[in-house]
Amino acid sequence: MYNEIALDTIDIHREPPMEEPARQYYFMAKCREWVQAFAEENGRLPKACVVNFGCQMNARDSEKLSGILECIGFLLTGDENADFVIFNTCTVRDNANQKVYGRLGELNGYKRRNPHMKIALCGCMTQEAAVRQKLRKSYPFVDLVFGTHNLFKFAELLWTTLSEADGMVVDIWEDTDQIVEDLPIERKYPFKSGINIMFGCNNFCSYCIVPYVRGRERSRTPEDILEEIRGLVADGVVEVMLLGQNVNSYGKNLSHPVTFAQLLQKVEQVEGLKRIRFMTSHPKDLSEELIQVMKDSKKICRHLHLPLQSGSTRILERMNRRYTKEQYLELAGRIRREIPDIAITTDIIVGFPGETMEDVEETMDVVRQVRFDNAFTFLYSKRTGTPAAAMEDQVPAGQVKEGFDRLLGLVQDTAREQVARYTGHVMEVLVEEVNESDPSLVTGRLSNNTVVHLPGDASLVGKLVTVSLEECYGFYYMGRICEKLR
Ligand code: 5AD
Ligand code: SF4
Repeated sequence: MYNEIALDTIDIHREPPMEEPARQYYFMAKCREWVQAFAEENGRLPKACVVNFGCQMNARDSEKLSGILECIGFLLTGDENADFVIFNTCTVRDNANQKVYGRLGELNGYKRRNPHMKIALCGCMTQEAAVRQKLRKSYPFVDLVFGTHNLFKFAELLWTTLSEADGMVVDIWEDTDQIVEDLPIERKYPFKSGINIMFGCNNFCSYCIVPYVRGRERSRTPEDILEEIRGLVADGVVEVMLLGQNVNSYGKNLSHPVTFAQLLQKVEQVEGLKRIRFMTSHPKDLSEELIQVMKDSKKICRHLHLPLQSGSTRILERMNRRYTKEQYLELAGRIRREIPDIAITTDIIVGFPGETMEDVEETMDVVRQVRFDNAFTFLYSKRTGTPAAAMEDQVPAGQVKEGFDRLLGLVQDTAREQVARYTGHVMEVLVEEVNESDPSLVTGRLSNNTVVHLPGDASLVGKLVTVSLEECYGFYYMGRICEKLR
């Protein structure tokens, strides 16, 4: 493991090793020498800022970037007016891209005042050729651009950027089958952590850019995953979130195939681990085996994120989702029957090409029947290169907005009722932080992911406490610590 490797003992004057991760340790040692020279010249350590956009997978990748920067000797800061700033980008919808371009403009202002500042961009956006062209043309002050497949090479690319004075360093891979283990990670929370169990996606939903920017499915071995979890638990982690674009197809490409349900059973055995979450499940691959494993588990949280996308079978077919409205309803009904205390959340897209008000009605019908505990509703965003972008019947913005507003109203009403169903119950809460707006309160989550605020102080952070859920305010509870589980 990296923390057993002393960077000081690496001879940085010889040729870099070819094998990974040794090669990256070598470049981390070289960057560290640069940091020391910077500190001597400026009388302070250089500051680095990692800014994350997008999903949980990106958040985990950002922790990897932070881990490497910290190991090299940078001081991590939340302030973008730093010596090194890296944006880990998202491109799932166009507004994510626009946000990054806006923020890059602001960074340029800082760079004018601090010409030694280095700016880097990585993540999903950079995998698109059109984005790279735009960067070269309109954002030439960016120093380093790399993608999702070579994130493990960050130390090496950073070294190139720090040691070469001018020009944009660009390194993008189209795909990879490589998974590099054992690089440093700086966790945001000491008591909970995301863990990648697989990378990429093979589903090619017709609206989605992810398979193009994250590549084909690759699973990590159960041994590597379990070793990482054991290490985290020894380090104080009580809750893990297993991450993948489609965790239900975990393990299919391993030399000894393992199902996701089998992996969960192995994770359950890890002593000291209290809670297991996972994200995201594709309805077409959710097995009966998984439902039974969840039902019998003491640690797997009572929460399932099951993206619906649309309730209209006609639209689902055009989306290439490979299930019908009836199949989704049957699955959700079966899950609710088997695990009555589960919270089901979802993603819905409004305005997919060819969608009519009748289709939106079908989606609303599913919302009424399944009664989602929460639903993320998105306006369809045209992603160049996806099959849906080439469909002729794009929906006019006004109609999309009307459907979106109607759906949102319904989703909020049902979610409010669902969330409130445990008022007066006593349940376990994992306390996550001191409440930002009221420091006499702490904030945590139920197993089903609902947020609870309760009186308490920083000593409770990271602890599981038994709480009486006194009152529900829309999407969260106010609670109070009490003695026993009812
Ligand atoms: N437009 C709108 N929403 C999208 N999503 C993915 N691609 C698009 C798109 N082109 C949504 C889906 C997915 C979530 C992560 O983002 O609902 O589940
Ligand atoms: Fe995109 Fe579909 Fe893959 Fe999810 S399953 S990442 S929506 S292609």
